[in-house]
Amino acid sequence: MSIFFKELKIGNLVLDNRIIYAPMTRSRANDEGVQPEFTVDYYTQRASAGLLVTEATNVSPMAKGYVRTPGIYAEDQIESWRKVTDSVHAKGGKIFMQIFHTGRIALPDFLPEGVEKPVAPSAVKANGQNYTDDGMKDFVEPREMTTGEVKETVQDFANAAKNAIAAGFDGVEIHGANGYLVQQFLSTNVNKRSDEYGGSIENRARFLFEVLDAMIAEIGGGRTSLRLSPGGEFNDIKEDDAEELYDYVINELNKRDFAYLHIGTFDQNRNWHPVIRPKFEGVYFAGVGFTKETGEKLLAAGGADAIVFGKLFLANPDLPKRFKIDAELNEWDNSTFYTPGTKGYIDYPTLDEAKAAN
Ligand SMILES: Cc1cc2nc3c(=O)[nH]c(=O)nc-3n(C[C@H](O)[C@H](O)[C@H](O)COP(=O)(O)O)c2cc1C
Repeated sequence: MSIFFKELKIGNLVLDNRIIYAPMTRSRANDEGVQPEFTVDYYTQRASAGLLVTEATNVSPMAKGYVRTPGIYAEDQIESWRKVTDSVHAKGGKIFMQIFHTGRIALPDFLPEGVEKPVAPSAVKANGQNYTDDGMKDFVEPREMTTGEVKETVQDFANAAKNAIAAGFDGVEIHGANGYLVQQFLSTNVNKRSDEYGGSIENRARFLFEVLDAMIAEIGGGRTSLRLSPGGEFNDIKEDDAEELYDYVINELNKRDFAYLHIGTFDQNRNWHPVIRPKFEGVYFAGVGFTKETGEKLLAAGGADAIVFGKLFLANPDLPKRFKIDAELNEWDNSTFYTPGTKGYIDYPTLDEAKAAN
């Protein structure tokens, strides 16, 4: 039997397999951050994952950086997610919610009425552009958060985690990767603060650990997890001291008890899995760029406890079955990743559906 199908314990859960559905923004929610009914089908179709991790979900109105992204701070949002978790559980699946705050990556288009600037550790604009339905738009200069706002935002994460559990999720993943608020604090180029959240590595990591600890206190370590992207430059992030920074972070993580660490990074210059895995004492998920063969090989070598699949799983709702029988794979369609509606969302066929259509 393939090592993918060896059970894995995380927190209080036992996963049937080690094939994890990657968090992926799909921009199908309405403008209030409420998921449509067909999002229930989307996640349920993929319930054979060892664990599903949802798209990044906004912890507050100021967190929203992308069109039609869902939230987890209002009652109607929670209700819409409860239908997803009920349906996934009815199929025997397990599901964590990824939560985030986009910080300086938010365009004013997506922020509450009257708010002119997004917030960030410091007033440093990102180079680059963000997707809107009217085309790409330049990032804007953010406003530096006050120390009080930083503390309130920690609380927003804890509240979001509490709401996610109320919505029926098995746990919550903090999005500490890909240039959003948590990584903006960790970075050397966006964090120029002079209070206790800036300067030394310990100070730059303070926000991350306050968020993590607040969530562990709120929902328990067994239901809390974290994604990081060491050295990743997505969304114009620089970590000039990445090696020392992540040494510190991993050391601190080892003092805490939580469900898993997910490392998925777009660093062209370095493979971080062999750097982090040996230092980290908990359950380790490896992501980005894996195929069945490379994932299986890494698991067999003890280089990870589970493999996170993004685009392959998006396009193949029955990916674990396809891996098991070495079946052909559907191709993904980039053009429908973020478009509204059901096309490219719930219409990728399973093997059985493809056979029936032939
Ligand atoms: C459409 C799309 C949306 C994504 N949204 C998120 C997200 O919300 N949160 C996150 O942590 N990563 C996000 N990612 C990154 C994926 O989780 C994953 O790391 C990436 O697709 C690389 O893995 P892969 O090579 O298996 O596809 C997204 C990727 C894609 C393709």
